[in-house]
Amino acid sequence: MKVQGHHYRTIWIKENDPSVVCVIDQRNLPHEFIVVDLKTSDELARSISEMWIRGAGLIGVAAGYGMYLGAIEASRTVDFEKYISGVAEKLKRTRPTAVNLAWAVDRQLELLEHNRDMNVDGKIKLLLEGAGELADGDVEFSRAIGEHGVKIIENISRKKKGETVNILTHCNAGWLAFIDYGTATAPIYEAHRRGIKVHVWVDETRPRNQGARLTAWELNEQGVAHTVISDNVGGHLMQHGLVDMCIVGSDRTTRCGDVANKIGTYLKALAANDNNVPFYVALPSSTFDMTIRDGVKEIPIEQRGAEEVKFIQGKSSGFIRKVLLTPENSPAANYGFDVTPAKYVTGLITERGVCQANEDSITDMFGDLL
Ligand code: MRU
Repeated sequence: MKVQGHHYRTIWIKENDPSVVCVIDQRNLPHEFIVVDLKTSDELARSISEMWIRGAGLIGVAAGYGMYLGAIEASRTVDFEKYISGVAEKLKRTRPTAVNLAWAVDRQLELLEHNRDMNVDGKIKLLLEGAGELADGDVEFSRAIGEHGVKIIENISRKKKGETVNILTHCNAGWLAFIDYGTATAPIYEAHRRGIKVHVWVDETRPRNQGARLTAWELNEQGVAHTVISDNVGGHLMQHGLVDMCIVGSDRTTRCGDVANKIGTYLKALAANDNNVPFYVALPSSTFDMTIRDGVKEIPIEQRGAEEVKFIQGKSSGFIRKVLLTPENSPAANYGFDVTPAKYVTGLITERGVCQANEDSITDMFGDLL
């Protein structure tokens, strides 16, 4: 997508130095656009756990590049296999909920497994190519999600005789959470490109405010009409007919269609259900976890530090600062995700098409993933 008119992906190999992975540091957006160099698998793991980079698709691809950096390090040790399996474990531990991360690490491990006899230089090259394929695959997934999802927006626009389609989204399932286009945003960008009138209600998404900071920034850069709202506004808007559809992303979706996504998604799904507002989830197939059925019971929910709830970050007098919101001594709980049961999901917008959020429909379309 474009930043100040220049095309960027969210992760790439540094020009003239293939041993360096570059990422957009998302911590200071929208106020500062900073690209950081990651030179070791430790730095890469830290960039995921401390959320310099985030979002299911991006952390998956980043972990793929982390395996590549790990292979460079492993080539300097006496036991390549032992070192690289340590790197795989380290990367998988960084964030527990989004399944794309483990999926990408396992894809890289499989490549090594199928090429056990290759020399070390060959293995490094293999993992570099593997990470590049993960990145290209992610872009293609998002592009196709846009093509399928835009038909739903087109239908609503037709029914509204060309009036603006109002779409509510939560958190950031935009291009910053993937490599390009995003998932929840891909149909919106495609609709905008086709000249369909769209307007996006952007949930701020406490505690880290990925909606207010990142989704709003992205939409602004692409020139898409939007309004940032505080997290509790969505229900009111739906009661008053001001939301035509919701599109959110997913960090893990079970084979029965339960969806883990950023904390607060479930409440939006309940409000949408009560007001007959279609509630769509956009996700690439790498987000399915076909080994589980019951999301509430089986998806691990990340809990992060209390300081993310107690403090809020913003720009003041030209500086990015954090300020304390709560009484200093009040404890805070920080659950990162919740699970929306399949019964509240109108449809899953995937790279292969739109399917229903139930086991039959998912396995019909994605039987090869079982
Ligand atoms: O904690 P984050 O910012 O990595 O959360 C992931 C998300 O961006 C959202 O849950 C998103 O809606 C899912 S799609 C990447």
